[in-house]
Amino acid sequence: MKNLAIIYWSGTGNTEEMAKLIEQGAINAGAKVNILTVDKATIEDFKNADVVALGSPSMGVEVIEESEMEPFVESIESLVSGKKLGLFGSYGWGTGEWMENWVERMNNCGADVLDDGLIINGMPEGADSDLCINYGKNLVK
Ligand SMILES: Cc1cc2nc3c(=O)[nH]c(=O)nc-3n(C[C@H](O)[C@H](O)[C@H](O)COP(=O)(O)O)c2cc1C
Repeated sequence: MKNLAIIYWSGTGNTEEMAKLIEQGAINAGAKVNILTVDKATIEDFKNADVVALGSPSMGVEVIEESEMEPFVESIESLVSGKKLGLFGSYGWGTGEWMENWVERMNNCGADVLDDGLIINGMPEGADSDLCINYGKNLVK
């Protein structure tokens, strides 16, 4: 059984909803899931998981959230080599540039990022919810 940690930041709940749907997909696929907001997450949560999904909306000008998620990501950069990672988040008016940069950054650190990450405009609903559920399922395959 795979063990997935989902670590996320969400200001208005959209990325949080994605996190919950990803959790649902992974649980349906038989995984054990540890889901927590980044302010509660430790390096141990990262290390103890077979697979990790990190979530942040697009903030600032096309960057991940800077006060909590950015420092956490910096702290795990030296640990991601060879690790399967999911990256996900909600965005508003942009083109997803923050996610392209985030995926490139993690892959450059040696991570194995699933697809091109997963981005959803606003709150996931309908087909977008299914994308999140499937992302969770594929993370723990
Ligand atoms: C301070 C701030 C900066 C933002 N910057 C961007 C941005 O650069 N590009 C974008 O597409 N959306 C941007 N957004 C919109 C959010 O990414 C969007 O509302 C998202 O759904 C919020 O997710 P959350 O509910 O998980 O916080 C920004 C929102 C805020 C509050």
